[in-house]
Amino acid sequence: MYDPMFPSTTPRFLIALGVWIEMGSFEKLSRRALGTDTPVMTEIRKLMAELTNPMSLAQGVVHWQPPQNALEKVKELVWDPTISSYGPDEGIPELRQALLKKLREENKLTKSAVMVTAGANQAFVNLVLTLCDAGDSVVMFEPYYFNAYMAFQMTGVTNILVGPGHPETLYPDADWLERTLSETKPTPKVVTVVNPGNPSGTYVPEPLLKRISEICRDAGCWLIVDNTYEYFMYDGLKHSCVEGDHIVNVFSFSKTYGMMGWRLGYIAYSERLEGFASELVKIQDNIPICASIISQRLAIYALEEGAGWVTERVKGLVKNREIVREALEPLGKENVKGGEGAIYMWVKLPDEFRDEFKVVRWLAHRHGVVVIPGRASGSPGHLRISFGGLQEDEMRAAAERLRKGLEELLHSGMVE
Ligand SMILES: Cc1ncc(COP(=O)(O)O)c(C=O)c1O
Repeated sequence: MYDPMFPSTTPRFLIALGVWIEMGSFEKLSRRALGTDTPVMTEIRKLMAELTNPMSLAQGVVHWQPPQNALEKVKELVWDPTISSYGPDEGIPELRQALLKKLREENKLTKSAVMVTAGANQAFVNLVLTLCDAGDSVVMFEPYYFNAYMAFQMTGVTNILVGPGHPETLYPDADWLERTLSETKPTPKVVTVVNPGNPSGTYVPEPLLKRISEICRDAGCWLIVDNTYEYFMYDGLKHSCVEGDHIVNVFSFSKTYGMMGWRLGYIAYSERLEGFASELVKIQDNIPICASIISQRLAIYALEEGAGWVTERVKGLVKNREIVREALEPLGKENVKGGEGAIYMWVKLPDEFRDEFKVVRWLAHRHGVVVIPGRASGSPGHLRISFGGLQEDEMRAAAERLRKGLEELLHSGMVE
């Protein structure tokens, strides 16, 4: 019998028995949802569930928790009635004040207003719904961040132009962008870049970021920059932001302060933009209403610890990156890229392994190590390796599995 208590599972059960009921029929689902890629992380979680002792170099997470002082302080707050109530859509005033200060002092964004969101992904969906109409075209660069691609797909923005990265550095190709924005009619609505990148771990140097910004401004096109990994920079490289009336910056507390499960991010947009805030708030009010209040309070305390707290932890990831790099040596240096920023290395497999999802499954089942297939980012034949989620000892063990797996793959193929 169909059980209204379990509306999503019961029809599937009936379908499995060959009882097709209209409620579950495929063609009644929206074309937007059907046309959206399956989230790669849910596929990876399914794969992990098939294994007995998997080690994950897959999900983009960090191994630390939020600052202890900050956690201690929020522990005291749970009985405060304001925690259980709604807050302002844009975020609680104390947090917004603290963020404006941080944006001014650290990111040199002096003319920005801020909206707090339930994570950077929700921030991005807010922006797509605010800036784009179904049928618009938009621009991303390969390899792209899969959730941003899906945010476009699920809102009907299906004309997604994917530009190339430089073959050596993977930097977004600004010449291609300039040509594409001038030749594509109507002009694409939004260009988006991630700095430093997911899945590549490459950063966008300041002169290139400025050039991309100018190309977008001259073409009359929005630029969304995702700065989720702003503090995750290595080898003395510096992350920078650009500001302007056509630019929106997205940030996240997830990786920086180890707050993935607290779901907190924010949008910085030009304070001079008329109407932008009131349109953005319509979307916000219909999705989270406001970001979780206790998460916002935790964020205030986390910001009190400051950027130094984060960069201290990021320094510890340099060793992890080295361990992963060593494990990838069998593939040859020329096939291993990225890792100047964020928590990712990006590798190209030999041409015969273009179906890299097969390799991912094989590595998982035979060698107990899990990585992300490149096709999720528009690049079959590639893998994304995350070096943020494990502490050094575990990272060594996972990397050893990866190295053994790659050596076997190269010498003997995907033997059973
Ligand atoms: C580039 C990028 N943007 C956004 C997100 C999502 O961040 P949040 O947890 O704040 O939604 C991630 C997480 O992996 C990311 O890598």
